Amino acid sequence: MKLKTLAAALMITAGIPLAAQATDLEVTHWWTSGGEAAAVAEFAKAFNAGGDKWVDGAIAGSGGVARPIIISRIIGGDPMGATQLNHGRQAEELVEAGLMLDLTEIAEAEGWRDIVNPVRLLDGCTVDGKIYCVPVNIHSPQWLWLSHAAYEKAGVAVPSNWDEFVAAAPKLREAGIVPLAMGQQSWQTQLAFDTMMVAVGGTDLFMSILADADAEAAASAKATEVFEAYAAARELSDGSNVQDWNQATNMVITGKAGGQIMGDWAQGEFQVANQVAGVDYTCLPGLGVNEVIATGGDAFYFPKNDDPEITAAQKRMASQMISKEVQVAFNLKKGSLPIRGDVDLSAANDCMKKGLKILASGNILPDGVNVQSADTQGQIQDLMVEFWNDTDITAADAQERYVAIIEDAD
Ligand code: GAL
Repeated sequence: MKLKTLAAALMITAGIPLAAQATDLEVTHWWTSGGEAAAVAEFAKAFNAGGDKWVDGAIAGSGGVARPIIISRIIGGDPMGATQLNHGRQAEELVEAGLMLDLTEIAEAEGWRDIVNPVRLLDGCTVDGKIYCVPVNIHSPQWLWLSHAAYEKAGVAVPSNWDEFVAAAPKLREAGIVPLAMGQQSWQTQLAFDTMMVAVGGTDLFMSILADADAEAAASAKATEVFEAYAAARELSDGSNVQDWNQATNMVITGKAGGQIMGDWAQGEFQVANQVAGVDYTCLPGLGVNEVIATGGDAFYFPKNDDPEITAAQKRMASQMISKEVQVAFNLKKGSLPIRGDVDLSAANDCMKKGLKILASGNILPDGVNVQSADTQGQIQDLMVEFWNDTDITAADAQERYVAIIEDAD
């Protein structure tokens, strides 16, 4: 063994951080809410514990704000050390342009293909047989979050599905509570729409439209039902004047709103507020109508860098993010499910258990971002936010415009 290697081995055994490992990596992400910040701190803690330095590059405002900044920095020659993106098509062009680090060697050495569950998360990181990202969680958007305090105040039982939610709304109004909290950003209105599509319209309809871009399905009577339910939801959100998703979650936490349709990252907010699932709030996957989850989520990409020390640090970070300990610590705070099944989840709360049960049952969907291009997503988001804010647009108008987008989807 060479002297340097021997010294390094001794230092590792003694738990002393290696001087050669002290590399600073700037990490960009859009995790700025209370729950998100608590979760991302787990990644930073693990990286720093190895002797490197996590330089936090949080970008406030949501993925819609952060993604273009992240992408333009990479294209413009000012790459960060690592960045969050949703795996799938968001990084497609960056990978094709040869700007992202190929992680295949480390993925093979650590057997990621055997570890990652469902393996399609790794497929979302794979381009031409090579792996360009590390999946860190499974997030599903299709949840309804309900405030027990709000229903108690209104004197009605906490709903167990969307129909009950709609039926209970007048009582909430009487008690001065907004039935449905909704942040006014376009991705949130789209998330609610897609969730209603799978809950009210059913899995087949969702798959035909989102995965197969079937315009006839988008124009069908079943899809009309979805648009009508969506228009009804618009009315239920009257009085919800917040922008960010976590402000809307806060309305639920504080009992100012009955519920919110939001991804399971909302759980992180309830946790930070010390609320307990099943006691202070209830979560209903698939709006309690169709208990299904999508296995989308977040992944980290590492822009290529000429400096071999940076490349080595990037690989260390990737390897840590997928390690058992970090997977548990991060996902318990994030509200997401871990991407590996071989970890100890005895600390999982009620909502995480519901998600794990659905995952095990196999009732899972492809995530919208995995199959639709960023352009198609953008058009749908624009339509949904316009519809939400302009009550002159009827459900029928919105459906007609939606069909046209699906006809041209790529
Ligand atoms: C999603 C991301 C989640 C969550 C959410 C709200 O794009 O996958 O991890 O952070 O945005 O910020």
